[in-house]
Amino acid sequence: MPYDNQPEYDRLVFELSSPGREAFSLPEPDVPVEGARARIPAGYLRREPAALPEVSELDVVRHYSRLSQMNYGIDTHFYPLGSCTMKYNPRINEDMARLPGFGRLHPLTPAPHAQGALALMHRLAGMLAEISGMDAVSLQPAAGAQGEMAGVLMIRAYHAARGERRTKVLVPDSAHGTNPATTALAGYEVIEVKSTPSGEVEVDDLERHLGPDVAAFMITVPNTLGNFEPRIVEITERCHAHGAQVYMDGANLNAILGITRPGDLGFDVCHFNLHKTFTTPHGGGGPGAGPVGVKAHLEPFLPVPVVTKDGERYGLDWKRPKSIGKLHGFWGNVGMLVRAYAYIRTMGAEGLRAVSDNAVLNANYVMKRLEGHYDVAAAGPCMHECVLSARRQKKHGVSAMDVAKRLLDLGFYAPSTYFPLIVEEALMVEPTETESKETLDAFCDAMIRIAREAETDVSVIHAAPTTTPVRRLDQARAAREPSLRWRPEA
Ligand SMILES: Cc1ncc(COP(=O)(O)O)c(C=O)c1O
Repeated sequence: MPYDNQPEYDRLVFELSSPGREAFSLPEPDVPVEGARARIPAGYLRREPAALPEVSELDVVRHYSRLSQMNYGIDTHFYPLGSCTMKYNPRINEDMARLPGFGRLHPLTPAPHAQGALALMHRLAGMLAEISGMDAVSLQPAAGAQGEMAGVLMIRAYHAARGERRTKVLVPDSAHGTNPATTALAGYEVIEVKSTPSGEVEVDDLERHLGPDVAAFMITVPNTLGNFEPRIVEITERCHAHGAQVYMDGANLNAILGITRPGDLGFDVCHFNLHKTFTTPHGGGGPGAGPVGVKAHLEPFLPVPVVTKDGERYGLDWKRPKSIGKLHGFWGNVGMLVRAYAYIRTMGAEGLRAVSDNAVLNANYVMKRLEGHYDVAAAGPCMHECVLSARRQKKHGVSAMDVAKRLLDLGFYAPSTYFPLIVEEALMVEPTETESKETLDAFCDAMIRIAREAETDVSVIHAAPTTTPVRRLDQARAAREPSLRWRPEA
């Protein structure tokens, strides 16, 4: 159903349909149609034509061009979503992933005929190991969350191989939701460790929970408040003293490239979000890659297959008796691996270091410009993202969600809201290193304007957004009862 006042240009392709219109002209089939139909079992044959839209080629082109322009993306706008690293994805990555040798490689190609792709994977795993200070890397996981799952399963297999039964995993209360979800899914009891008001791990609370039943401590560095854990080495040592493994959620690695390495901080496992740090597209739930790195003592447990190099020949090792098994079809999402490899090769060691330096600089610039207008969750300097609070605006009836909605009208995607959970009215801004000072200034100006409106004209904020195709949605209902299918009117 068209919604109220739905403009003509905003219609579904089905609603544009006009009987008899066509976007193609196919030649007459040169095989007997009836003969082909006869071979299809009756139960699979359509009884009536599919209710497909009947539109001209021009209708199709205009319709989808319009839809593509309704989309909000990093190619069109600044996207300061905290914790998500929505930075520019260089086009060279796309060119490389589309090279026929990669793009058209069949996933069942035997290893001897896929030497180039295997060489790339072997080298990428080596680069990620070097960047992170880990000894071995699996490229199999399809996302950060699956990298976490692989890591926690390897930790479980490691303890089991030593005859130890440990049942708990400790996770800070500031953690990204995937951390407790992963540990619970892997069969562990999740124990929450308290954070200090500035978002650091409360080390005494951690120590209280550590014991022979703890399998691991899982922590994001820099933490979800955008700060580096100053006592991280002490933390990893304390965990090891109790026989617990230490997992680093490396989703925020773009803050520390070339500055420090998880392996050097004492971590046993670390995953990478290629779609954040290494500029592969965010798949919106689609194909991504979240490789996982481990120290040598966990290497026997890596998922299969492991890419191997013997002299100049690359291969796939499936015979790994201690492996946690297979996580993904074929070799993982190889197209993403090609893009990440292209990015790392383009940037080089110095370039990667500059990525982090600039990401941190940009976040601190935003924080400094906004600290007089919004509360800052943890005293700076921050790392690659800063967490603000709309606590002050709340007194005028303006919530973090209201600020986010008003930003849409002012031409910006919203920061993450209400994360991390430990910050009241949180607004988490990750500007990334690819944005210019002009863009950051324009964003800060919009944020400052909203802070002023909160004091002078709350109605304009509460009415927002007014410039988007849909206004405020019932977000819980939109997530729980998504209406994704058009049905013809009866
Ligand atoms: C800190 C942190 N950990 C884990 C994840 C999970 O990564 P993915 O979305 O690739 O599953 C994210 C994603 O935003 C994250 O920010």
